[in-house]
Formats: sequence, C-alpha cells, structure tokens
Amino acid sequence: MRTLFRLSVLTLSAALLAACGGESGGDAQEVILYTARHYDSDELINRRFEEETGIAVRSISADSDLLIERIRADGARSPADVVMTVDAGRLYRAEQAGLFQPVQSDILDSRIPASLRHPDGLWFGFSRRARVFVYAKDRVQPGELGGYETLADPALRGRVCVRSSGVIYNISLLAALIDRWGPDRAQDWADGVVANFARIPSGADMDQILAVRAGECDVALVNHYYFARLIASDPTITDTVAIHWPEAGGGVHVNISGAGVAAGAPHPEAAVRYLEFLASDEAQRMVAETNGEYPVEADVEYDNPIIAEFGTFEADPLNVSVLGENQAEAQRMFDRAGWP
Ligand SMILES: [Fe+2]
Repeated sequence: MRTLFRLSVLTLSAALLAACGGESGGDAQEVILYTARHYDSDELINRRFEEETGIAVRSISADSDLLIERIRADGARSPADVVMTVDAGRLYRAEQAGLFQPVQSDILDSRIPASLRHPDGLWFGFSRRARVFVYAKDRVQPGELGGYETLADPALRGRVCVRSSGVIYNISLLAALIDRWGPDRAQDWADGVVANFARIPSGADMDQILAVRAGECDVALVNHYYFARLIASDPTITDTVAIHWPEAGGGVHVNISGAGVAAGAPHPEAAVRYLEFLASDEAQRMVAETNGEYPVEADVEYDNPIIAEFGTFEADPLNVSVLGENQAEAQRMFDRAGWP
C-alpha cells in the first residue's frame, strides 16, 4: 500500500517535472526489481531501502528460468532495473542471455569478496549458501563422513538421498568438483553417488531431510538453510538428524544469491544504490537473521541462534564464476551417470 502511494506521488512529480520542461522518466525515484527470491528477508530489506533513500522498490517475482526468459524476450522494452536470482549457475545463464550491464562501484568492490562477484561487475553475490550433508544420528557414526567424496563411498550403498540432477544446486556443486578434482574423478563421483541412491531422486531439499528423519536414507545433500528452517519449525528434528560440513578444494561448496543491473535499466543510478544497500551491514544482517543464509562479508555480526549452533566452517575459495562455466559439462556428466 505504501509503495503504491509513493509511486503515485512519484508519477505525479515526474509529470510535473515534464510539464516544467525538466527531464522525465529516467530520474523517477524508483527501482524495478525482477527477483526469483521470495523471502521475508527481502521484503524487509526493500522496505528499509525505501525508508532510507526515498526510492520506491517495485518487486516482480517469478521462477528463475522464467524470469530470465521474460527479460530476454522483452529486450530493450524491459522495465527491469535490477535482476536478482539464486545460484551462480543461474546468474551465469542471465549473463549469457545479455541481461546485465557492467557496474563500477567502490562500495560493492570493497564489500563483496572478488570470488563472489563477476570480474566485470555484471553481477554481485549478496548471500552465501553452503551445500552440506545431513545425516541420521543413530545410523551414521561421526567418523564415517568426510568430504563430498563420501557420498560416492561404497559404504553408503543404498543409503543416500539427493535431488534430481536438473536442480541448479546440484549442477553447481558438480561444476565445482570438476574444477577441484578434474573431469575423470568428478564423473566417478557422479557414478558412485548414483550407485548409492536410497531411492530415485524426488522432491526438494527439505524433502531429503525429512526422508532422513523418516528412515528412508541415512545421508542427504542439501543447502544449509533448509535444515535451519526445519529446526525453526520443529526443534526436535535435531534429536535424530545432524549437519555435517563436507569439503572439496579446501572448503565447503558455497553458492550465492546475487543480482546485477539490467542491461536496459531505466533507473541505473537507483539500481546501483539498491545493490550497494544489499551489501550494507544492515541488509546483510537481515538476510542472515531472517533467512538463515550467510552474509557475503565474513565479519558482519548477526544474531541467529540456529545458525550459530551449526558452528563455523571453511568455505571453498573457488570463484563462483566457475560454476556457470562448467555447467554444461556437469549436466552431461549427470546424464552419463544416469542421475535422473
Ligand atoms: Fe533454495
């Protein structure tokens, strides 16, 4: 309601400016955000941004691949200022579709580690998500789990739950393993995981955790914040299920949510301010406290007891651009392995 009111006032002032011979359109105080995220934390961030800058945020949400296709199809007519999505693999798809323009911002460059943003400023990471194991405490001994290679270990035959290979989270993980291990070992891993399936992949990350609790499998591969969400809704799940931090290449596989300024953004300056706000301590804290993701800045302080309980971990320092570059190869490997 507040956004609508602001917009009507802004439309009015733009019309007045035009009538006075001032420039219209380009200087209207608004940002049109196309987002594939649908979290409460994002709503909070948008409202705070509006309060602090007077720039209204109009948010249009859709499923990631649809969103990318829609902006691409609209071409120069697209009203998008900022394009936001989850997973570096999807940011890569958007980049390949020509959706972004390069941004030069000292604030963004200093706040966001180089490994979590595009080298030419086409997109920037604003939250980190770790792909981890969850396991049944009564059926898995702590010493049984190591790095990602464990999922392919014959000791776990018939005991592993994973999602389908089409999901971008799995494609990005294998893309990282290709970089870390080389293609032969990465293919062996995919083959080995398929041999260990407890069931045909089905459902989302949350469903894999519930399957561990239900005894359908002993170990599952999921993004950390889904486990945090389950704990928030039912703390008793930690009686039976625990988190494990697997490693590859010197750390846990970490992906990002990210955004960039749209190629034909009608409000490019407001769009950059919006990105800079996303990188601020305040917005980073909201993402961590409300959505359970990790800030991109390691030293942002926040209060999230469930995440604190997970403990600390070392993140793979791999540049997330690699996840997009190895995407097609990863998909072919999954297909060869027969991972549905
Ligand atoms: Fe997710």
